[in-house]
Amino acid sequence: MSEAPRAVLALCLGNICRSPIAEGLLRHHCALLKLELEIDSAGTGGYHVGEAPDPRSVEVMRLKGHDIREQRARKLTLADLEYFDLILAMDTNNVREASRLTNDPRLRAKVLLLDPEGRDVPDPYYGGPNGFLHIYEMIDKAVSQRAKSWVK
Ligand code: 4NP
Repeated sequence: MSEAPRAVLALCLGNICRSPIAEGLLRHHCALLKLELEIDSAGTGGYHVGEAPDPRSVEVMRLKGHDIREQRARKLTLADLEYFDLILAMDTNNVREASRLTNDPRLRAKVLLLDPEGRDVPDPYYGGPNGFLHIYEMIDKAVSQRAKSWVK
């Protein structure tokens, strides 16, 4: 068990495919466990800033009973590294890109892979819709494990 963070950010590259699913599932699992955390998501790249989640992410979440249509993509900033207690990255590229924003080891230490077992959640952007079910399942399992570890 680790201490519950006050604020958690899910991180991927575009903030339109993986981290919007992670944000939605963090909200879901934390609500189930009555954990009152601040939850958000961002991307290391700025290509999709202001956009709603990818329709394939919206659809897989809808099929599982979650509505993420209100989310909007934004780019990770140094202020995020300062503000959030924990930044849960989908893959090792995201961890590396986030670390480029600062030399402060205390801030860099906040950025971890989402999966407690250290697997990357693969970038599904150029794949088909089946890839989205796969990443949904990976993210759901990892988020559930993380959230349970925050219960006192
Ligand atoms: P995400 O997926 O990082 O899971 O949001 C991607 C979205 C867009 C791009 C790459 C990955 N892109 O190259 O535009």
